[in-house]
Amino acid sequence: MQTAVITGGSSGIGQSAAVELAKRGVSVIVSYHGNPDGGLETVERITKDGGTAVALPLDVGRTGTFASFKDAVADVLRDWDRTSLDYLLNNAGVGQQPVMFEDTTESLFDQMLGVHLKGPYFLTQTLLPLIANGGAIVYTSSTSALPNTHPEPGYSVYASMKGAQLVLVRYLAKELSSRGIRVNAVAPGVTRTRLGDDAFARYPELIPPIAARTALGRIGEPDDLGKVIAFLLSPDATSITAQTLEASGGYDL
Ligand SMILES: NC(=O)c1ccc[n+]([C@@H]2O[C@H](COP(=O)([O-])OP(=O)(O)OC[C@H]3O[C@@H](n4cnc5c(N)ncnc54)[C@H](OP(=O)(O)O)[C@@H]3O)[C@@H](O)[C@H]2O)c1
Repeated sequence: MQTAVITGGSSGIGQSAAVELAKRGVSVIVSYHGNPDGGLETVERITKDGGTAVALPLDVGRTGTFASFKDAVADVLRDWDRTSLDYLLNNAGVGQQPVMFEDTTESLFDQMLGVHLKGPYFLTQTLLPLIANGGAIVYTSSTSALPNTHPEPGYSVYASMKGAQLVLVRYLAKELSSRGIRVNAVAPGVTRTRLGDDAFARYPELIPPIAARTALGRIGEPDDLGKVIAFLLSPDATSITAQTLEASGGYDL
């Protein structure tokens, strides 16, 4: 039995990745932040099909809580007769309203930095002693950080943090290769999740223009990404490291 920690597993892409990994026999620990019901929903979706899952609280913006999160993860592993983790998905994230560069506040910058870069950086460092040699780590980045996507005005902070994740992935892949740990990123395009306070449910009119900019003619669904992430973490991707895999349906192609 393999084991995984998935941050932001209470909805959207993280929930789908948890379900996909569970289908492959992986026991998953999902974290939730403001939506404990979502964490429970993920656990129920997995356990009703015979899988194993636990939900734990985590705020990736608060590095001071990471040591106790690690202890909680170790307790769950002990309950499963395991001492190590095989997979880590750094997926938790928040959207932002478009804000032009001149109007960007230090507090928005710091929030985005904490959740998308500083948090995942130090959470990975904290959990690293638990990660087995030969394990795998994935970061959920974004097409907004890719050089082939046209920059959308108003998203300089979010995209900068997502871009920094891609650099981090390459450096971690190098350093952790000595332990056989692979490190990759997935870059979703626009995906129908609860991101941005459930923006797509509230403003469905946003969807057709984005679909029109996408080669496959539709926005992404969480399961599109869940499957790709499960693949990148799995032994099927055993020779893939330091890569960013765009899974956007051809956004801005
Ligand atoms: N949807 C898109 O179009 C899109 C495109 C590119 C990249 N992404 C990236 O995909 C990742 C997953 O987002 P999603 O689209 O699946 O959105 P989502 O449905 O809103 O899920 C976001 C997840 O992150 C968690 N989270 C938010 N703030 C957190 C914090 N401070 N500490 C810990 N967890 C926190 C949420 O937990 P709670 O709900 O429990 O608070 C939730 O589980 C994010 O990194 C996002 O930037 C999304």
